[in-house]
Amino acid sequence: MELGITGRAAVVTGASTGIGFAVAEELVANGASVLIVARDQNRLEAAEAKLQQKSRAKVASLAIDVASAGAADRVVEAALSAVGSLDILVNNAGRAHAGGLMTSSESDWDEMTMLKLVSMRRLCKAAIPHMKEKSWGRIVNMSSIGGIYPNPKLLISHVLSGAINNLTKSLALEVAADGILVNAIGIGAVATDNWANNMLPAVRRNRSELASLSDDEVLARVGAEMTPIGRAGTPEEIAAIAAFLVSSRNGFVTGDTIEASGGADRFM
Ligand SMILES: NC(=O)c1ccc[n+]([C@@H]2O[C@H](COP(=O)([O-])OP(=O)(O)OC[C@H]3O[C@@H](n4cnc5c(N)ncnc54)[C@H](OP(=O)(O)O)[C@@H]3O)[C@@H](O)[C@H]2O)c1
Repeated sequence: MELGITGRAAVVTGASTGIGFAVAEELVANGASVLIVARDQNRLEAAEAKLQQKSRAKVASLAIDVASAGAADRVVEAALSAVGSLDILVNNAGRAHAGGLMTSSESDWDEMTMLKLVSMRRLCKAAIPHMKEKSWGRIVNMSSIGGIYPNPKLLISHVLSGAINNLTKSLALEVAADGILVNAIGIGAVATDNWANNMLPAVRRNRSELASLSDDEVLARVGAEMTPIGRAGTPEEIAAIAAFLVSSRNGFVTGDTIEASGGADRFM
């Protein structure tokens, strides 16, 4: 399917690895110029170099913490100067936080809220005027199926995912008449560094019978248990959905949270 995004300019946050990198790959393969954003400069430059090999358009990068003060304006300025415009925004930067209400601290809430919700809100607000100028824009916010089916063991992540879904729906209605479509993806278990760094330790703590298994074996076991299709997802499977949602082929889906979880109706 031709996505019709040749010549479009995109920002993908959290794009040095995992799902964000796969989204950036899909967009450049379809002719969009892409600014990728993450904190670690070395990893970002390596990702940029890989994308440039596949790209017919411009690829640029900006090393920044999206949760820091002024980051949204700096990202938009970088997009305008490096890729010429801002038609597509994929708010993907983030990670999971394992724990319940009684084990989470004030600083856990502050950090995760800034990372997942505040940075997303600020980036949408900074990007939308540039989309309105062209009466065309696409935004995808990466959420979790926990925003629909919350698991108390991932309480902060799932409360914030619910808020992201709500922000997505409300914003979609606010800008629908401006040609801007806003959607979220409710992601299930997908094998990435985030999963390995933030989920696996919690799974191992809660499931002593998995202690002797390798990381890959634990992921295979948990993916099979929580997912009707019998396995965890891949970053490329999420990227394919995001690419459609931000494309010209999507003209009628807005305000939705697409469940991309292999049929799972629980997170672990
Ligand atoms: N994988 C899953 O099972 C799953 C499930 C539900 C939801 N999600 C969501 O999907 C998104 C992508 O997850 P993933 O699994 O692909 O994660 P990942 O492999 O850990 O990649 C995260 C990306 O975000 C960047 N990042 C993290 N914090 C950042 C910050 N403060 N500012 C800028 N960039 C930042 C990371 O680079 P730096 O560290 O260098 O900044 C990296 O490029 C996240 O929002 C996550 O919550 C994932």
